[in-house]
Amino acid sequence: MSLTDLARQAAEKSYSPYSEFAVGAAVEWADGTVTTGTNVENKSYGLTQCAERSAITAGIGQGLREITAVAVWVNEDQPASPCGACRQVLNEFSSPEDCVSVVLACPSGERNTTLAELLPDSF
Ligand code: THU
Repeated sequence: MSLTDLARQAAEKSYSPYSEFAVGAAVEWADGTVTTGTNVENKSYGLTQCAERSAITAGIGQGLREITAVAVWVNEDQPASPCGACRQVLNEFSSPEDCVSVVLACPSGERNTTLAELLPDSF
């Protein structure tokens, strides 16, 4: 199954009763492992966890450290782009020379980009 399909499946598990904006993410790691995650909201809104960071956290808990590719799925008319916090956390677990592939997908299509393009001049 493709990274995009795994992200789409993950979005089905979204807990997003407040925004009703379901997001799924699939992260591929250097050893080929894929971890997935979804957004998890809370009635105390600021506690919301994004799908990308859920997927990253799952991998870190397995001892993985090097991200090579990411897919993000939303059930919307346009693909969604990772928030700034998720871009910075993706950056923590990748190196610029790896050129992490980022696929932003929705039912009508995909946009292919890279982490370097989404987070230029990163810290
Ligand atoms: N969200 C994500 O899961 N990833 C992002 O990169 C941006 C936003 C979620 C958080 C919240 O549950 C919903 O989308 C609306 O902001």
